[in-house]
Amino acid sequence: MKAVIVCVSVSHGNTRRVADSMAEVLEARVVTPEEADVGEVGEADIVGFGSGVFYGRLHPRLTGFVRSLPGVSAPPGGERRGAFVFATSGLPELSLVFSYARPLSQLLQGKGFEVEATFSCRALDTWAPFKPLGGLHKHRPNAADIAAARAFAGELGRRRAGAGARAPWA
Ligand SMILES: Cc1cc2nc3c(=O)[nH]c(=O)nc-3n(C[C@H](O)[C@H](O)[C@H](O)COP(=O)(O)O)c2cc1C
Repeated sequence: MKAVIVCVSVSHGNTRRVADSMAEVLEARVVTPEEADVGEVGEADIVGFGSGVFYGRLHPRLTGFVRSLPGVSAPPGGERRGAFVFATSGLPELSLVFSYARPLSQLLQGKGFEVEATFSCRALDTWAPFKPLGGLHKHRPNAADIAAARAFAGELGRRRAGAGARAPWA
């Protein structure tokens, strides 16, 4: 099974830590949008897209990258290419309707991906109002967040393997 993770992590490396833990499980390469090989993204069985949340949105470099992608096609006789979206943020999402991942998921679906799942966790946030306090969630993502990210990736890999792609551990 081929997996790639496209990640923008500009503030504290929070999202990169989450991406790296998912990548270990999926045996995926983690790349920035600028490093990503569009051909590789289009041919992978599953692609992860993640960033921190800035003013309520995923990072514009990530969204811009997805916008610039050509549509992807399903492998012959196979399922649609799989995708997942993940985020780290200081504040929790207000509801599923306003989920951080939703706009990017819709964009990905429009490009022909099947968005299989989304993941988010709290992380160190030093946005201006929280800076004088030394930041919100100083020690996150923590071991439990990383364990949750790994479990999420494992579940995705198993599901994809069930859909015909060989899981790295199979
Ligand atoms: C300028 C700025 C704006 C932010 N806006 C939000 C926001 O709207 N909602 C939120 O929950 N977190 C917000 N955050 C916190 C980041 O989403 C959080 O620190 C994230 O983990 C950063 O990820 P990174 O270290 O991978 O870049 C903001 C942080 C900064 C510096």
